[in-house]
Amino acid sequence: MRLLLEVTRRIREILPSGMPLFVRLSATDWVEGGWDLKQSMILSCELKELGVDLIDVSTGGLVPHARIPVQTGYQVPFAAKIREEAGIRTGAVGMIKEAEYANQVITRGCADLVLIGREMLRDPYWSIHARCHLDEEPNWALPYGYAVKERRQGK
Ligand SMILES: Cc1cc2nc3c(=O)[nH]c(=O)nc-3n(C[C@H](O)[C@H](O)[C@H](O)COP(=O)(O)O)c2cc1C
Repeated sequence: MRLLLEVTRRIREILPSGMPLFVRLSATDWVEGGWDLKQSMILSCELKELGVDLIDVSTGGLVPHARIPVQTGYQVPFAAKIREEAGIRTGAVGMIKEAEYANQVITRGCADLVLIGREMLRDPYWSIHARCHLDEEPNWALPYGYAVKERRQGK
């Protein structure tokens, strides 16, 4: 904790005040006697005090033979608990692939945002496809918007 807190304090000092600071945590080692959620909540409270804006909540894959229940959203409960108990914004990550599920994580108050890893590597236009899937107008980047407009106009 001491190393992370010292690094965070220094980074917050040199970052412009309007620039958000995210910290990624491994919320648990998934082993008895290892780093756990309770300690992560204590750490998250201290990070909040130092001006951290969001905890990006992952979990550890460092300890050999740890039994990790890898499946859709398996780390989301950690993001939810830290958000609730430490009163800080969180990001949920891990096997989040479907637009509906990503949306639910946010609308149910489990996290303030979701972070998409491998699915975004498979489909770099994931966010555009997700918005279409949810019947929302995609947030086209300005140059892309010209292409969409022309298509709508049948050019
Ligand atoms: C190519 C690749 C590199 C990654 N590098 C890191 C890393 O350096 N640090 C880290 O905490 N997570 C790293 N991750 C994990 C991702 O940030 C993310 O947490 C993980 O892929 C789970 O999310 P996903 O299921 O949406 O991919 C990496 C993932 C991939 C696919």
